[in-house]
Amino acid sequence: MSGRARLGKDLLALEPLTADQIRLVLDTAEPLKEISERAIKKVPTLRGQTVVNLFFEASTRTRVSFEFAEKRMSADTVSIASAGSSVSKGETLVDTARNLEAMRIDMVVIRHGSSGAAQFLAERIQSNVINAGDGTHEHPTQGLLDLLTLRDRFKTLEGRRVCIVGDVLHSRVARSNIWGLKKLGAQVGVCGPRSLLPNAIDELGVEVFDRVEAAIEWAEALNVLRLQLERMQAGYIPSLREYNRVFGITRERLERAPRDILILHPGPMNRGVEIDSDVADGPHSVILDQVTNGVAVRMAVLYLLAGGAPELAEAAKKGRGGDA
Ligand code: CP
Repeated sequence: MSGRARLGKDLLALEPLTADQIRLVLDTAEPLKEISERAIKKVPTLRGQTVVNLFFEASTRTRVSFEFAEKRMSADTVSIASAGSSVSKGETLVDTARNLEAMRIDMVVIRHGSSGAAQFLAERIQSNVINAGDGTHEHPTQGLLDLLTLRDRFKTLEGRRVCIVGDVLHSRVARSNIWGLKKLGAQVGVCGPRSLLPNAIDELGVEVFDRVEAAIEWAEALNVLRLQLERMQAGYIPSLREYNRVFGITRERLERAPRDILILHPGPMNRGVEIDSDVADGPHSVILDQVTNGVAVRMAVLYLLAGGAPELAEAAKKGRGGDA
Protein backbone atom coordinates (compact mmCIF):
# COMPACT_ATOMS: atom_id res chain seq x y z
CA MET A 1 0.00 0.00 0.00
CA SER A 2 1.14 3.56 -0.68
CA GLY A 3 0.38 4.61 2.94
CA ARG A 4 0.83 8.30 3.55
CA ALA A 5 3.27 8.93 0.68
CA ARG A 6 3.05 12.30 -1.07
CA LEU A 7 4.53 13.39 -4.40
CA GLY A 8 5.96 16.81 -3.49
CA LYS A 9 6.01 19.90 -5.73
CA ASP A 10 7.11 18.38 -9.05
CA LEU A 11 7.29 15.12 -10.98
CA LEU A 12 10.67 15.17 -12.69
CA ALA A 13 11.80 11.53 -12.76
CA LEU A 14 11.16 8.09 -11.28
CA GLU A 15 14.74 7.70 -10.01
CA PRO A 16 14.20 9.82 -6.87
CA LEU A 17 10.73 8.39 -6.07
CA THR A 18 10.13 5.71 -3.47
CA ALA A 19 8.17 2.55 -4.22
CA ASP A 20 5.35 4.00 -2.09
CA GLN A 21 5.24 7.19 -4.15
CA ILE A 22 5.06 5.16 -7.38
CA ARG A 23 2.30 2.98 -5.94
CA LEU A 24 0.51 6.15 -4.85
CA VAL A 25 0.28 7.34 -8.46
CA LEU A 26 -0.79 3.92 -9.77
CA ASP A 27 -3.39 3.46 -7.01
CA THR A 28 -4.74 6.98 -7.63
CA ALA A 29 -4.91 6.37 -11.40
CA GLU A 30 -6.91 3.17 -11.00
CA PRO A 31 -10.29 4.71 -10.03
CA LEU A 32 -9.76 7.63 -12.44
CA LYS A 33 -9.72 5.30 -15.50
CA GLU A 34 -13.49 5.09 -15.46
CA ILE A 35 -13.94 8.82 -16.19
CA SER A 36 -12.68 8.31 -19.76
CA GLU A 37 -15.27 5.55 -20.33
CA ARG A 38 -18.24 7.83 -19.65
CA ALA A 39 -20.40 9.50 -22.29
CA ILE A 40 -19.58 12.86 -20.67
CA LYS A 41 -15.88 12.61 -19.83
CA LYS A 42 -15.59 15.44 -17.38
CA VAL A 43 -15.37 16.00 -13.61
CA PRO A 44 -14.86 19.36 -11.88
CA THR A 45 -11.91 18.19 -9.73
CA LEU A 46 -9.27 20.63 -11.06
CA ARG A 47 -11.64 23.53 -11.72
CA GLY A 48 -9.75 26.79 -11.21
CA GLN A 49 -6.31 25.22 -11.89
CA THR A 50 -4.41 26.61 -14.88
CA VAL A 51 -1.98 24.28 -16.67
CA VAL A 52 0.46 25.23 -19.44
CA ASN A 53 1.80 22.48 -21.72
CA LEU A 54 5.19 23.49 -23.12
CA PHE A 55 6.09 21.06 -25.90
CA PHE A 56 9.46 22.00 -27.37
CA GLU A 57 9.83 18.60 -29.08
CA ALA A 58 7.45 16.61 -31.27
CA SER A 59 4.78 14.56 -29.51
CA THR A 60 1.43 12.98 -30.26
CA ARG A 61 0.59 10.63 -27.36
CA THR A 62 2.03 12.56 -24.43
CA ARG A 63 0.77 16.00 -25.47
CA VAL A 64 -2.74 14.86 -26.32
CA SER A 65 -2.89 12.61 -23.25
CA PHE A 66 -1.95 15.48 -20.92
CA GLU A 67 -4.46 17.76 -22.65
CA PHE A 68 -7.25 15.19 -22.27
CA ALA A 69 -6.30 14.55 -18.63
CA GLU A 70 -6.40 18.29 -17.89
CA LYS A 71 -9.65 18.93 -19.74
CA ARG A 72 -11.39 15.87 -18.29
CA MET A 73 -10.61 17.22 -14.81
CA SER A 74 -11.82 20.73 -15.81
CA ALA A 75 -8.45 22.51 -15.57
CA ASP A 76 -7.92 25.53 -17.82
CA THR A 77 -5.17 24.61 -20.27
CA VAL A 78 -2.97 26.21 -22.89
CA SER A 79 -0.52 24.33 -25.11
CA ILE A 80 2.56 26.00 -26.55
CA ALA A 81 5.07 24.67 -29.09
CA SER A 82 8.42 26.32 -29.80
CA ALA A 83 7.37 27.12 -33.39
CA GLY A 84 4.98 30.05 -33.20
CA SER A 85 6.04 31.08 -29.68
CA SER A 86 8.65 33.64 -28.64
CA VAL A 87 11.11 30.77 -28.09
CA SER A 88 11.59 30.89 -31.86
CA LYS A 89 12.76 34.54 -31.38
CA GLY A 90 15.37 33.49 -28.83
CA GLU A 91 13.46 33.83 -25.55
CA THR A 92 14.92 31.59 -22.84
CA LEU A 93 12.98 28.77 -21.22
CA VAL A 94 13.01 30.51 -17.85
CA ASP A 95 11.82 33.82 -19.30
CA THR A 96 8.98 32.02 -21.09
CA ALA A 97 7.95 30.26 -17.87
CA ARG A 98 8.26 33.39 -15.70
CA ASN A 99 6.10 35.36 -18.14
CA LEU A 100 3.49 32.62 -18.02
CA GLU A 101 3.67 32.63 -14.21
CA ALA A 102 3.01 36.37 -14.28
CA MET A 103 -0.36 35.41 -15.74
CA ARG A 104 -0.97 33.27 -12.61
CA ILE A 105 -0.61 29.70 -13.78
CA ASP A 106 -0.45 26.69 -11.43
CA MET A 107 1.36 23.94 -13.34
CA VAL A 108 3.74 23.48 -16.25
CA VAL A 109 4.05 20.28 -18.26
CA ILE A 110 7.29 20.36 -20.24
CA ARG A 111 8.81 18.28 -23.02
CA HIS A 112 12.27 19.42 -24.02
CA GLY A 113 15.17 18.08 -26.06
CA SER A 114 17.73 18.76 -23.32
CA SER A 115 18.22 16.34 -20.42
CA GLY A 116 17.64 18.22 -17.16
CA ALA A 117 15.39 20.91 -18.65
CA ALA A 118 12.43 20.01 -16.41
CA GLN A 119 14.54 20.15 -13.24
CA PHE A 120 16.18 23.39 -14.36
CA LEU A 121 12.72 24.92 -14.70
CA ALA A 122 11.36 23.42 -11.47
CA GLU A 123 14.20 25.04 -9.50
CA ARG A 124 13.34 28.47 -10.91
CA ILE A 125 9.54 28.73 -10.87
CA GLN A 126 6.92 28.27 -8.18
CA SER A 127 4.42 26.34 -10.31
CA ASN A 128 4.37 22.55 -10.19
CA VAL A 129 6.50 21.12 -13.00
CA ILE A 130 5.81 17.78 -14.70
CA ASN A 131 8.48 16.29 -16.95
CA ALA A 132 6.89 15.04 -20.18
CA GLY A 133 10.27 13.80 -21.47
CA ASP A 134 13.64 15.57 -21.27
CA GLY A 135 16.34 14.61 -23.75
CA THR A 136 17.67 11.13 -23.01
CA HIS A 137 17.10 11.49 -19.24
CA GLU A 138 13.58 10.39 -18.18
CA HIS A 139 9.94 10.26 -19.23
CA PRO A 140 8.31 9.57 -15.86
CA THR A 141 4.64 9.54 -16.88
CA GLN A 142 5.47 7.06 -19.67
CA GLY A 143 7.24 4.89 -17.09
CA LEU A 144 4.21 5.11 -14.79
CA LEU A 145 1.72 4.21 -17.52
CA ASP A 146 3.91 1.25 -18.51
CA LEU A 147 3.95 0.11 -14.87
CA LEU A 148 0.16 0.47 -14.62
CA THR A 149 -0.32 -1.55 -17.81
CA LEU A 150 1.97 -4.32 -16.55
CA ARG A 151 0.34 -4.29 -13.11
CA ASP A 152 -3.12 -4.58 -14.71
CA ARG A 153 -2.00 -7.83 -16.35
CA PHE A 154 0.33 -9.29 -13.73
CA LYS A 155 -1.48 -7.97 -10.59
CA THR A 156 1.92 -7.46 -8.98
CA LEU A 157 5.31 -6.62 -10.49
CA GLU A 158 7.22 -8.36 -7.70
CA GLY A 159 9.52 -10.95 -9.31
CA ARG A 160 8.17 -10.42 -12.85
CA ARG A 161 10.71 -10.47 -15.68
CA VAL A 162 10.50 -7.49 -18.03
CA CYS A 163 13.01 -6.93 -20.83
CA ILE A 164 13.53 -3.59 -22.55
CA VAL A 165 14.61 -4.20 -26.14
CA GLY A 166 16.29 -1.84 -28.56
CA ASP A 167 17.78 1.62 -28.45
CA VAL A 168 18.31 1.91 -24.69
CA LEU A 169 21.19 4.38 -25.16
CA HIS A 170 18.96 7.19 -26.43
CA SER A 171 15.83 6.25 -24.51
CA ARG A 172 14.37 8.28 -21.65
CA VAL A 173 11.56 5.71 -21.56
CA ALA A 174 14.08 2.96 -20.79
CA ARG A 175 15.55 4.90 -17.87
CA SER A 176 12.15 5.62 -16.30
CA ASN A 177 11.13 1.98 -16.81
CA ILE A 178 14.31 0.60 -15.26
CA TRP A 179 13.95 2.77 -12.13
CA GLY A 180 10.21 2.15 -11.78
CA LEU A 181 10.30 -1.58 -12.41
CA LYS A 182 13.18 -2.18 -10.02
CA LYS A 183 11.56 -0.13 -7.25
CA LEU A 184 8.41 -2.26 -7.58
CA GLY A 185 10.44 -5.48 -7.33
CA ALA A 186 10.52 -6.61 -10.98
CA GLN A 187 13.55 -8.22 -12.58
CA VAL A 188 14.69 -6.07 -15.49
CA GLY A 189 16.56 -7.12 -18.62
CA VAL A 190 17.87 -5.02 -21.49
CA CYS A 191 18.64 -6.28 -24.97
CA GLY A 192 20.12 -4.57 -28.00
CA PRO A 193 23.30 -4.10 -29.97
CA ARG A 194 26.14 -3.06 -27.61
CA SER A 195 26.39 0.19 -29.59
CA LEU A 196 22.86 1.06 -28.37
CA LEU A 197 23.35 0.12 -24.71
CA PRO A 198 24.89 2.65 -22.26
CA ASN A 199 28.44 1.68 -21.17
CA ALA A 200 27.59 1.37 -17.48
CA ILE A 201 24.26 -0.38 -17.98
CA ASP A 202 25.30 -3.31 -15.72
CA GLU A 203 25.59 -0.88 -12.80
CA LEU A 204 21.81 -0.34 -12.93
CA GLY A 205 21.31 -3.92 -11.76
CA VAL A 206 19.79 -5.21 -14.98
CA GLU A 207 20.37 -8.43 -16.88
CA VAL A 208 22.03 -7.75 -20.26
CA PHE A 209 21.10 -9.85 -23.29
CA ASP A 210 23.14 -9.65 -26.49
CA ARG A 211 20.76 -11.95 -28.38
CA VAL A 212 17.06 -11.22 -28.68
CA GLU A 213 16.30 -14.97 -28.69
CA ALA A 214 17.79 -15.26 -25.18
CA ALA A 215 15.78 -12.23 -24.01
CA ILE A 216 12.58 -13.78 -25.35
CA GLU A 217 13.35 -17.06 -23.61
CA TRP A 218 13.80 -15.20 -20.28
CA ALA A 219 11.11 -12.52 -20.36
CA GLU A 220 7.43 -12.43 -19.44
CA ALA A 221 7.03 -8.98 -21.04
CA LEU A 222 9.00 -7.08 -23.66
CA ASN A 223 9.00 -3.30 -23.81
CA VAL A 224 10.15 -2.66 -27.37
CA LEU A 225 11.84 0.68 -28.02
CA ARG A 226 11.88 2.78 -31.13
CA LEU A 227 15.21 3.25 -32.88
CA GLN A 228 15.65 6.98 -32.20
CA LEU A 229 17.27 7.82 -35.50
CA GLU A 230 16.93 11.58 -34.86
CA ARG A 231 19.21 11.27 -31.79
CA MET A 232 21.88 9.16 -33.50
CA GLN A 233 24.94 11.13 -34.54
CA ALA A 234 26.93 8.20 -35.87
CA GLY A 235 26.43 4.81 -37.50
CA TYR A 236 25.16 2.84 -34.50
CA ILE A 237 23.72 0.06 -36.67
CA PRO A 238 24.69 -1.20 -40.13
CA SER A 239 21.15 -0.69 -41.54
CA LEU A 240 17.49 -0.80 -40.50
CA ARG A 241 17.09 -4.07 -42.39
CA GLU A 242 20.02 -5.61 -40.54
CA TYR A 243 18.63 -4.37 -37.21
CA ASN A 244 15.25 -5.98 -37.93
CA ARG A 245 16.95 -9.23 -38.95
CA VAL A 246 18.99 -9.47 -35.72
CA PHE A 247 16.90 -7.65 -33.07
CA GLY A 248 13.41 -7.21 -34.57
CA ILE A 249 10.49 -8.58 -32.52
CA THR A 250 8.80 -10.86 -35.03
CA ARG A 251 5.97 -13.39 -34.77
CA GLU A 252 8.38 -16.20 -35.70
CA ARG A 253 10.67 -15.31 -32.79
CA LEU A 254 7.77 -15.08 -30.31
CA GLU A 255 6.34 -18.41 -31.47
CA ARG A 256 9.53 -20.08 -30.25
CA ALA A 257 9.12 -18.57 -26.75
CA PRO A 258 8.40 -20.96 -23.86
CA ARG A 259 5.40 -18.80 -22.75
CA ASP A 260 3.08 -16.03 -23.97
CA ILE A 261 4.91 -12.70 -23.76
CA LEU A 262 3.20 -9.37 -23.18
CA ILE A 263 4.28 -6.79 -25.77
CA LEU A 264 4.62 -3.09 -24.93
CA HIS A 265 5.89 -0.22 -27.05
CA PRO A 266 5.86 3.43 -25.96
CA GLY A 267 5.32 4.64 -29.54
CA PRO A 268 5.74 5.98 -32.08
CA MET A 269 6.55 2.63 -33.71
CA ASN A 270 8.81 1.92 -36.65
CA ARG A 271 6.83 -1.02 -38.02
CA GLY A 272 9.08 -3.54 -39.72
CA VAL A 273 12.17 -2.24 -37.91
CA GLU A 274 12.06 -2.87 -34.13
CA ILE A 275 8.64 -4.55 -34.23
CA ASP A 276 6.64 -6.33 -36.93
CA SER A 277 3.00 -5.46 -37.53
CA ASP A 278 1.97 -9.06 -36.71
CA VAL A 279 3.28 -8.50 -33.19
CA ALA A 280 2.22 -4.89 -32.71
CA ASP A 281 -1.37 -5.75 -33.66
CA GLY A 282 -1.28 -9.29 -32.26
CA PRO A 283 -3.11 -10.90 -29.33
CA HIS A 284 -0.36 -10.25 -26.77
CA SER A 285 0.09 -6.57 -27.58
CA VAL A 286 -1.00 -4.07 -24.90
CA ILE A 287 0.29 -1.07 -26.85
CA LEU A 288 -3.07 0.68 -27.07
CA ASP A 289 -3.83 -0.17 -23.41
CA GLN A 290 -0.68 1.80 -22.58
CA VAL A 291 -2.11 4.80 -24.41
CA THR A 292 -5.48 4.48 -22.63
CA ASN A 293 -3.76 4.16 -19.24
CA GLY A 294 -1.69 7.24 -20.00
CA VAL A 295 -4.70 9.51 -19.55
CA ALA A 296 -5.55 8.08 -16.11
CA VAL A 297 -1.90 8.23 -14.97
CA ARG A 298 -1.64 11.88 -16.01
CA MET A 299 -4.94 12.67 -14.31
CA ALA A 300 -3.53 11.10 -11.15
CA VAL A 301 -0.29 13.08 -11.34
CA LEU A 302 -2.13 16.38 -11.91
CA TYR A 303 -4.55 15.58 -9.09
CA LEU A 304 -1.80 14.66 -6.60
CA LEU A 305 0.41 17.64 -7.43
CA ALA A 306 -2.61 19.91 -7.03
CA GLY A 307 -2.84 18.64 -3.45
CA GLY A 308 -5.53 16.01 -3.96
CA ALA A 309 -5.63 13.37 -1.24
CA PRO A 310 -5.03 9.86 -2.63
CA GLU A 311 -7.69 8.34 -0.38
CA LEU A 312 -10.20 10.73 -1.99
CA ALA A 313 -9.45 9.78 -5.62
CA GLU A 314 -12.68 7.76 -5.73
CA ALA A 315 -14.64 10.83 -4.60
CA ALA A 316 -12.65 13.00 -7.03
CA LYS A 317 -14.36 11.13 -9.86
CA LYS A 318 -17.50 12.97 -8.78
CA GLY A 319 -15.60 16.22 -8.27
CA ARG A 320 -15.36 16.00 -4.49
CA GLY A 321 -12.17 15.73 -2.49
CA GLY A 322 -9.84 17.16 -5.11
CA ASP A 323 -9.67 20.58 -3.56
CA ALA A 324 -6.16 21.57 -2.54
N1 CP B 1 5.48 7.76 -25.92
C1 CP B 1 5.65 9.04 -26.29
O1 CP B 1 6.27 9.84 -25.59
O2 CP B 1 5.05 9.35 -27.47
P1 CP B 1 5.02 10.83 -28.08
O3 CP B 1 6.41 11.18 -28.46
O4 CP B 1 4.08 10.74 -29.26
O5 CP B 1 4.49 11.76 -27.01
